[in-house]
Formats: sequence, structure tokens, C-alpha cells
Amino acid sequence: MHILLTGGAGYIGTHVMLCCLEAGHSVTVVDDFSNSSPKAIARVEALAGCRVVFHQGDIRDAALLDRVFQESKIDTVLHFAGLKAVNESVENPLSYYDVNVGGTIALAQAMGRAGVFRLVFSSTASVYGEQEKMPLTESSPIDDPTSPYGRSKRMVEQILEDHCASDPRWAIAVLRYFNPAGAHISGQIGEDPRGTPANLIPYATQVAIGQRAALSVFGNDYPTPDGTGVRDYIHVMDLAAGHLMAVDYLRMHMGYRVWNLGTGRGHSVLQIVQELENIIGKPLPTNFAERRSGDIAQCWADPARAERELGWRAQHDLNEMLADHWRWQKLNPKGYDS
Ligand code: NAD
Ligand code: UD1
Repeated sequence: MHILLTGGAGYIGTHVMLCCLEAGHSVTVVDDFSNSSPKAIARVEALAGCRVVFHQGDIRDAALLDRVFQESKIDTVLHFAGLKAVNESVENPLSYYDVNVGGTIALAQAMGRAGVFRLVFSSTASVYGEQEKMPLTESSPIDDPTSPYGRSKRMVEQILEDHCASDPRWAIAVLRYFNPAGAHISGQIGEDPRGTPANLIPYATQVAIGQRAALSVFGNDYPTPDGTGVRDYIHVMDLAAGHLMAVDYLRMHMGYRVWNLGTGRGHSVLQIVQELENIIGKPLPTNFAERRSGDIAQCWADPARAERELGWRAQHDLNEMLADHWRWQKLNPKGYDS
């Protein structure tokens, strides 16, 4: 198959791209490099031993998308391109709605013009917002995401569901990722945050390597076993496998379907710190700080639907996830610019 990856140069896109190539698919990437580097694509090509077709540009550029679909006979689109920083989305909501919502509409319109009707969309556990009842199933309410970022993803889900209902030719898979972490085992590709990492694991590995003084643990008075926030961390290679299974599913099933991609297990911030300390073999400088505004206490997935319908289940545990993230950090202390 020929698969188009929007945002393919990013953290999750590079890992999925590698798995697509290793599975024998051809790949085209559209990315504007607003949050990534062309070096990431070169690394994937080196690991896979084959080339990809690449277009630098914006998914909101209709003429570019038309050219991309004319140039290659695309079967399925994996749509990663988007903005993902929660704080930034509070400060600049219009760009989040423009890129995440407007970009997806532009993409779906271009797909329609080209006669390509299979789409996998990167959504997030953020659509669930704060919930009492764990684990989260795909039927848990999504009425109240806590940020413009989360709301932009929820809006896209709704738009895609309406669009699918209006035209029976479409097959759309929405994957709600929980907390992606880890890297390919080679240490050649991984997460390369620009500036100060917002997420726990990249921040912690930057502390471990000495680039940052200490990890602030945001809040130790949550109603959780040790008072710190609990999340469902999922290895990026497990996410990648889930995408390939969704691609297969769409070959046989029309319509709209949503799946959680998580492990079904929650880990606290202090558990992450302890596991990382075991891996690096020394204490991680840590202090307690105020709760981060907008944070929820806990969140983990019920991944049963993905197992039942896609045959997908997370294979990597927390230790492997942190060891792989740490290997990537050590080998590439400054990310792709190392
Ligand atoms: P990323 O920022 O590493 O990758 C996104 C890619 O899209 C980048 O390469 C960026 O340059 C590109 N891009 C951004 N705007 C674009 C535009 N207008 N036109 C073309 N390219 C554009 O992010 P990621 O972590 O790989 O996330 C991929 C997707 O998964 C995103 O949609 C994100 O919202 C979603 N997601 C990510 C996480 C996470 O923690 N990483 C969690 C849940 C969902
Ligand atoms: C964040 C986003 C979420 C996005 C997800 C993807 C927020 C509020 N939410 O989720 O929308 O889908 O990333 O990965 O940003 N923590 C610390 N110290 C730090 C960083 C984090 O203690 O320096 C804690 C947080 O309080 C939280 C846990 O670590 O309890 C995980 O945080 P993070 O990695 O930022 O993920 P989320 O908050 O779950």
C-alpha cells in the first residue's frame, strides 16, 4: 500500500513511518517542519534501508495536497500533523483551531477530491478531561476537555464522525493516545522537544543527562496512592503497531470507529522517577512544586476495545519505555541536532 503521513517527521510519525516501511508499504510524508527536522526522515530512511517521498509544506495548503495526491496513488492517510502543546493552546487558541480543525478539514476535502477515503486520525486522552470513573472507555463522556488543544481534537472527532455519516465511501479510525513515551530501540529516532519539555518523561531524561537542574513534581496532594499524578504511559512503538492494525481494519470496515491506545495501567510521577533512577543508576534531583494548572489527578485507559477489534495490545512495559527513552537521550543529547 502507499500511505500518506501528515506530520510524519514528528515524534510519533517517525516511529509509525519506520513500521510502515518495515511492513513493506510505500510512504509519502507532508510536513512543514514547524516542530521537527528533516534529519528525522533521513534517520528513518537509514534504519529502514529505503526512501520515502517527501513534501515540505502546510496541510492547510489545498494546492499542495492536490499535488501530493496526484503524484502518488495513496491508499490511506495517517494524519499526525497538528499542534500539541496544551499551554500554548491556552495562549493562542486560534492557531490551534486553525491548524488542528482547519487543517483536518482541508485534508479531508483534498482526500475527497482525490478519491481517497481511508483516514487514521491522531486524537488524545485529553478529550476526556477530568473524570471520576476509571478506566476510561471510548464511551466515557467527552463533553469537557480542559484546554483548547483537547477541544480542538474533540471537534475534529465530531467533524469526522459527521462527515463519515454523510458519505458511505469513508472509513475513519480515531486513535486516542494516552501518554506516549519511549523511542525506537536503536536510539536513532525519538522525541525531540523544542525548548523546555512540557511533558514529564522528556523533562526527566534531560535532568538525568544534566541539561536541567531538577525535576519539579507538580503536586503531591492529589487523591492518588502517593499524592502525585497518575497517567497511562504507552510505548511509542506500541502506538506505531496500533496504527498498522488500524490501517488493516480500514481495508475491511467502512464507517467511523474510535479506539483508546493505552496500556490499562496507571503510574504515578514518583513511580516514574524511581524507575528512571533504577535505569540511570543514580538519584534524580527532584523537588515538589505546586500543582500545574489544568492538570488532572489521574487517567488510564480501558484498552479492551482495541484488543477485541484490532487485535492490539501494548507489548512494552514501563521499564522498557524509560530505558528506550533514556538511550535516545544519551545518544542524542541535543536531539536531531546532536
Ligand atoms: P510532533 O509535534 O512531534 O509532530 C507533529 C508534526 O506535524 C511535526 O513534524 C510538525 O512539524 C508537523 N506539523 C505541525 N503543523 C503542521 C502543518 N500545519 N502542516 C504540516 N505539518 C505540520 O507531535 P507528535 O507527538 O508526533 O504528535 C502527533 C499527533 O499526535 C498530533 O496530532 C498530536 O496532537 C497527537 N498526540 C500526541 C501526543 C503526544 O504526547 N505526543 C498525545 C496525544 C495525541
Ligand atoms: C499532557 C497534556 C495532554 C497531552 C499529553 C500528551 C497537559 C495539561 N496535558 O498530558 O493534553 O495529550 O500531555 O503527552 O499538559 N509532571 C511533573 N513535572 C513535569 C512535567 C509533568 O510532575 O515537569 C507531571 C504532571 O503533573 C502529570 C504527569 O507528570 O501528573 C504527566 O504529565 P505530562 O507528561 O505533561 O502529561 P499529561 O499532563 O498527562
